[in-house]
Amino acid sequence: MRLDKFITSAGLLSRKEAGDAAKKGRITVNGVVVTNAACHIDEEQDNILLDGVPVLYRRFTYIMLNKPAGYVSATEAPGDVTVIQLLPPELQKIGLFPCGRLDKNTLGLMILTNNGPLAHRLLAPKTHCEKVYRFESRFPLSEKDCEILEQGVDLGDFVTAPCKITMESAQRGYIVLTEGKYHQIKRMLEAVHNKITYLERVSFADIVLDPALERGKWRYLTKEEQIKIEERK
Ligand code: URA
Repeated sequence: MRLDKFITSAGLLSRKEAGDAAKKGRITVNGVVVTNAACHIDEEQDNILLDGVPVLYRRFTYIMLNKPAGYVSATEAPGDVTVIQLLPPELQKIGLFPCGRLDKNTLGLMILTNNGPLAHRLLAPKTHCEKVYRFESRFPLSEKDCEILEQGVDLGDFVTAPCKITMESAQRGYIVLTEGKYHQIKRMLEAVHNKITYLERVSFADIVLDPALERGKWRYLTKEEQIKIEERK
């Protein structure tokens, strides 16, 4: 792999900045200063330092993003802004895509990755990957409503799988889904003559939205989170 690509995929610098850093002698490969960032390195074996700090090889990149309203969870959306545009330029060029979709006005946890097979596995219906959403409804949601929704409700084109609802108050609670059909929660609430007024995903595949991560901000998944998601069956 080219040295500048390696530095970029570690999320440290853009390609151009990596080139400039090399020219300034800030990068060493196995202890030797390398001034040409276009040179090829062995990403598995070589010891690369930027300003004396080891650059860790990332075969795949995993990012936690706190999605704000108004952003489309796709890689491209002509006439709209996408969640990818919330990332720095160097991370917009490494093939990241959202692992699952949220509506444009839904908030909260998005995992972005460039590990296609893993995303495919996590999103496959048979994986039954849990997604937890905090919601608010326009009208109180009765125990009977919750029971109907928890058992599965006929939305015309499909019947929802059983889910779990925990109410915090009459119009606010958490819903845990193991599937992710288009507008699912909004349509479920409509099926019991109610309406979603707030929707935020707080957990996906046991990865919990970091409370320290402000809306619109991102961070890499920690090693533990990465292992959790990669080893998920
Ligand atoms: N259900 C919805 O209705 N919207 C989302 O964004 C996610 C789940």
